[in-house]
Amino acid sequence: MRLPSHVHLVEVGPRDGLQNEAELVSVEDRVALIDELTAAGLPAIEVGSFVSPKWVPQMAGTDLVLANIIQRTGTAYPVLTPNLQGFEAAMKAGAKEVAIFAAASEAFSQKNINCSIAESLERFRPLCAKAQERNVKVRGYVSCVLGCPYEGAVSPARVADVAEQLFKMGCYEISLGDTIGTGTPGKAQAMVTETARRIPQASLAAHFHDTYGQALANLLAVMEVGISTIDSSIAGLGGCPYAKGASGNVATEDVLYMLNGLGIETGVEMELLLAASRFVSQRLGRPLASKVARALSCV
Ligand code: HMG
Ligand code: MG
Repeated sequence: MRLPSHVHLVEVGPRDGLQNEAELVSVEDRVALIDELTAAGLPAIEVGSFVSPKWVPQMAGTDLVLANIIQRTGTAYPVLTPNLQGFEAAMKAGAKEVAIFAAASEAFSQKNINCSIAESLERFRPLCAKAQERNVKVRGYVSCVLGCPYEGAVSPARVADVAEQLFKMGCYEISLGDTIGTGTPGKAQAMVTETARRIPQASLAAHFHDTYGQALANLLAVMEVGISTIDSSIAGLGGCPYAKGASGNVATEDVLYMLNGLGIETGVEMELLLAASRFVSQRLGRPLASKVARALSCV
């Protein structure tokens, strides 16, 4: 088994997790959560989104979150920006990295950002140009890479095509999102292999949801074909409000446990990560969700 010696973990819980919670989490609690995640050593933490608050009210106040977190040198704090309006707001709030998000499925693109894939890519072009002018890094997401809640199967060629367009536009990294978690290891490998024919493998990341309990198996499979950047979410929080049936992202604790067991370095401290998991679970008033957090809390 050929595996990376180091994995770069991108924590998406404060954004991908909390955007899906019925209850709005206060700015203060979002700040406290991000500070705990920073303390745990995560090298990148998605702070929130500059999207329409009518579409995703949970992410309102991201400017205040960004202003109040303790930013550690060397840690990235990206925010999601769907258009120029969001980008300008992110710049005003002091963001140094943004993420744009397209889909590999037309129906999902319409539901999520109210436009076609082609329109979304045209919308991102001026955003990427402005980002380049200001030396702001742009990460790109492709959603529904292993299936769409509205269209069903999605071909690897389609994923590779959208990913390539985002990369050519200036995204330094493309995160491949199994938004509804229907993928299985063979399909995940095939999708990554096809995409890596068009984009340098080192610029790809895996963003897998765990709806069907396949996420860890899928991550192991894609690490075998060269993936070494993984998105995950504290306490397995997450889901997209515009993807029916999308449950949590793979939990950061579960990913870290697997990587530690494989001897793969991340720079993340399990004990401090568990503290963040307990904190957010308590704030949301629910039991610990990830298997590893539950198991290690009983030891
Ligand atoms: P729209 O309604 O087509 O936009 O929404 P519009 O340009 O017609 O503007 C309508 C109103 O929205 C206007 O306000 C604008 O000012 C406002 P009004 O005049 O009616 O008062 N507006 C904004 N407000 C704040 N920030 C902005 C912004 N843009 C316009 N940036 C839009 C289009 C893209 C804005 C909307 O569809 C939207 O915000 N969508 C975001 C959906 C979202 O956040 N989804 C979750 C993230 S994606 C995801 O989770 C998947 C991922 O995790 C990977 C994976 O798992 O696959 C990344
Ligand atoms: Mg997601």
